[in-house]
Amino acid sequence: MLILLKIVHMFSLFAGGAASIGNGLLLKKVIASKAPPPPMVAQTMGIIGKIGFGAIVLLWLSGLGMMFASYDISALDWTFWVKMAGATAVLVPVTMMTAIARKAETTGTPPDLTRMKSLASIARGGVAIAIIFGVLAFN
Ligand code: HEM
Repeated sequence: MLILLKIVHMFSLFAGGAASIGNGLLLKKVIASKAPPPPMVAQTMGIIGKIGFGAIVLLWLSGLGMMFASYDISALDWTFWVKMAGATAVLVPVTMMTAIARKAETTGTPPDLTRMKSLASIARGGVAIAIIFGVLAFN
């Protein structure tokens, strides 16, 4: 079970990272163009965003699953809690970005791209912390 959850954790890390890099680059280009993106680009960004959000949800589910299946939380040191802070700094902004994108989709108005960019930067910092302290915590 632990192995299966760890495989899901690693694939989710891959999918989340790919989505973050892909949408980050597209967002930079869209902001620089100072014009609404072509529908095909906007649609693709929406799909990549959903993949990224799904990946974060799976990271949390598989992470919590591994935690409760195999570890005594009280035996883990501070590095684990820093990893959790990093993971939270990913979950919160990505959830907010997903909500902003969904609202824009339903109302037909463009999302606030500058806000999306700041939230994406926070999430990237969180990923870096979660990876570095994840490795430190479990080695
Ligand atoms: C953005 C979110 C996350 C990232 C980037 C991330 C990243 C990582 C990485 C790189 C490892 C491999 C560490 C190693 O084996 O050396 C790992 C393992 C692990 N993660 Fe996460 N993680 C995230 C979220 C979570 C959450 C929310 C939990 C639990 C609540 C969690 C629990 C675990 C556990 C228990 C392992 C150890 C698996 C093992 O080798 O036994 N992770 N994570």
